[in-house]
Amino acid sequence: MMTKNKKLIDWVNEWAAWCEPTNVQWCDGSEEENQHLLDAMVASGMATKLNEEKRPGSYAFNSDPSDVARVENRTFICTTNKEDAGPTNNWMAPDEMKATMKARYKGCMKGRTMYVMPFSMGPLGSNIAKIGVEITDSPYVVTNMRIMTRMGKKVLDLLGETGEFIPCMHSVGAPLEPGQKDSKWPCAPSIDDKFISHFPETYEIWSFGSGYGGNALLGKKCLALRIASKMAKDEGWLAEHMLILGITNPKGEKKYIAAAFPSACGKTNLAMLIPTIPGWKVETVGDDIAWMKFGKDGRLYAINPEAGFFGVAPFTSMDTNRNAMLSARANTIFTNVGVTPDGDIWWEGIGTDCPAGTIDWKNKVYDPASGEPCAHPNARFTAPANQCPAIDPSWEEPAGVPISAILFGGRRPSTVPLIHESTSWNHGVFMGSIVGSEVTAAAIGLKAGVRRDPFAMLPFCGYNMGDYFGHWIEIGEKTTEDKLPKIFFVNWFRKDNGKWLWPGYGENSRVLAYIFDRCNGQGEAVNSPIGKIPAPNAINTEGLDMSADQIKKALAVNVDEWKDEVALIEEHYKMFGNHLPKELKEELVGLKKRLEM
Ligand code: OXD
Ligand code: MN
Repeated sequence: MMTKNKKLIDWVNEWAAWCEPTNVQWCDGSEEENQHLLDAMVASGMATKLNEEKRPGSYAFNSDPSDVARVENRTFICTTNKEDAGPTNNWMAPDEMKATMKARYKGCMKGRTMYVMPFSMGPLGSNIAKIGVEITDSPYVVTNMRIMTRMGKKVLDLLGETGEFIPCMHSVGAPLEPGQKDSKWPCAPSIDDKFISHFPETYEIWSFGSGYGGNALLGKKCLALRIASKMAKDEGWLAEHMLILGITNPKGEKKYIAAAFPSACGKTNLAMLIPTIPGWKVETVGDDIAWMKFGKDGRLYAINPEAGFFGVAPFTSMDTNRNAMLSARANTIFTNVGVTPDGDIWWEGIGTDCPAGTIDWKNKVYDPASGEPCAHPNARFTAPANQCPAIDPSWEEPAGVPISAILFGGRRPSTVPLIHESTSWNHGVFMGSIVGSEVTAAAIGLKAGVRRDPFAMLPFCGYNMGDYFGHWIEIGEKTTEDKLPKIFFVNWFRKDNGKWLWPGYGENSRVLAYIFDRCNGQGEAVNSPIGKIPAPNAINTEGLDMSADQIKKALAVNVDEWKDEVALIEEHYKMFGNHLPKELKEELVGLKKRLEM
């Protein structure tokens, strides 16, 4: 044992006695330990070692077909009072959930090793960072957590004898009888046996039955969003589903922007964007999560609590996201992609034809005529952030980076213009509260269609969403308006006659440059009923293959469409009942007035 932290030792001993693993291994996070685990998984057939020349230090895994995504309908927020979990979360009382899950955890690690992983979300020792410890019986989870977090002995050293940690309990829920052969991807066979449970009142996480992504890498969605959002409310900061990027103008001036988009809206692409306009540079701090705290100067400073990218692979290519492809060039874990006969990876939209003889995510020789994809649509790469060619020099700055602007957005084929700016902090909070998008492949068990996804936090808010809106309002009261980030709403996905109006990708730098200018007291804006929109020619459209009419359509605010939108917002707001802050009701009244409703 590498620690004298009594609380940690007791917690581990208690679970070890209950789960009955063959042995307990404390993870030190070293290269040797990692290699040993990977070698063992290759030997057992769980992992494929990729071609060392093409993809050095990289491995491919295929999950069980029943275990391919976050399971939102099996994700629970367990609070004493149901109302505290709010209308957007699945709820169960903590005692009841713990009893239900304890019965399943009993003996669940038989025949397996129990790994204990101390990890830090955020740079070690940063006053914005938090320490967690995950127990798991999945070596795949260990090797992924080692990329996604700062994991190992250095964290235990920091924890010391009395330090506090967030306990994160995980089991794939597949004990082995003596002599029983392990499956390639152990997990609980039935969806009803999977539980991703959060106890925000005691800051605990219990997960059972799934080995995939956010269900199992508990530092990410469970800790850094669901539990951290509650901690942030209790402690006066923000834990958000946001990318963070740095943008530098041709004069060498730099600003940082945080942006929230629902899953599958291109957050990773925006975070790693390569600008098309000359002289501008974009650098990546994070692609998924931002933790923001006030600095002494009254501004919000953000860290990326993660150390890696857990990115969606399909349709990532050297054309769509060069920096992501290069981040995953080595030392990367691929899950549910195709593996080519020469030991490289392949997925739909990677930019080359699928080589004959490629093994698909279901472990079969891929047949393009089958009509099925070779890689699962939610296939992932787990890549170290420091391998990103565009990683920001300050990405591990313990004090964080100062945020000048916050962006909200979603996939909205109609109504929502390319960009509009809030007129106040509370108006910006209103914008965040009405974010909506199409359902993502990262979530199963949902009806397809557009759903409201406030602040892109619908699956990730660890308490009552109405109270969460209230927390955002309160954050705005803690400092002066000039110190707060400016808030914008963007929509890359508006359509005209079924065709995208805006080219997106690198061209989004034109919108970022306008935002930069607005934060610099430049860039001309004009008022509209829904907020400030760019004056004609305020966005640089030089060299863009778009007619003046298309640009106008992309930026247009159509009052009739917004009147329909208001009806939908009213419907959406109903669910929050008396938890909806009065400030947001006032914003809605203001919008109706401006629309002359
Ligand atoms: C993700 C998500 O980041 O679903 O995987 O949001
Ligand atoms: Mn995400």
